[in-house]
Amino acid sequence: MDIRVREMKEDDVDQVVEIEREAFTTPWSREAFMAEVNKNKLAKYMVAEVDGRVVGFGGMWLILNEAHITNIAVKEEYRGMGVGKRILESLIYYCALKNIDSMTLEVRKSNMVAQKLYRKYGFVEYGVRSNYYTDNGEDAIVMWRTNILR
Ligand SMILES: CC(C)(COP(=O)(O)OP(=O)(O)OC[C@H]1O[C@@H](n2cnc3c(N)ncnc32)[C@H](O)[C@@H]1OP(=O)(O)O)[C@@H](O)C(=O)NCCC(=O)NCCS
Repeated sequence: MDIRVREMKEDDVDQVVEIEREAFTTPWSREAFMAEVNKNKLAKYMVAEVDGRVVGFGGMWLILNEAHITNIAVKEEYRGMGVGKRILESLIYYCALKNIDSMTLEVRKSNMVAQKLYRKYGFVEYGVRSNYYTDNGEDAIVMWRTNILR
């Protein structure tokens, strides 16, 4: 499968919102993604394309020398095919280009697939935020990847 990863543009937002709605119980709105793409100077979002269709996306906020991953999601029928890995690799690569040495994220305690993906790329559990998710009161695991530049 030929996966192409590139920067997210305004034209991608409708497809991204569809994937976001499929993936998360409290999805971000179309307006939120439009603001991320057009207004938020700290935001960097990538999409993965297969045959010209957006099949996944991921983004982060770059704050000083740290990056905070906001969301990563892959269209259901394209999961388990390496798309998530390619998106995460592109975010890490971008951080390295920008001299950013650490990345962090929150992930649901029950989301073993995502945790496995993050661990594969050197993310380590640093703590827990209790009752972080408002929909079901689930805890968030806080993970960090350090030494990106080493
Ligand atoms: C998490 C998510 C982005 C992963 O994307 P993906 O394209 O399916 O992942 P990949 O195919 O690149 O696999 C990456 C790694 O995740 C793990 N993984 C993927 N599918 C898995 C499964 N069904 N069971 C266990 N581990 C799995 C593996 O470690 C895999 O690496 P490997 O194939 O080298 O062993 C995707 O499952 C998704 O969109 N989930 C819903 C949204 C979500 O939970 N986002 C994360 C929020 S923090």
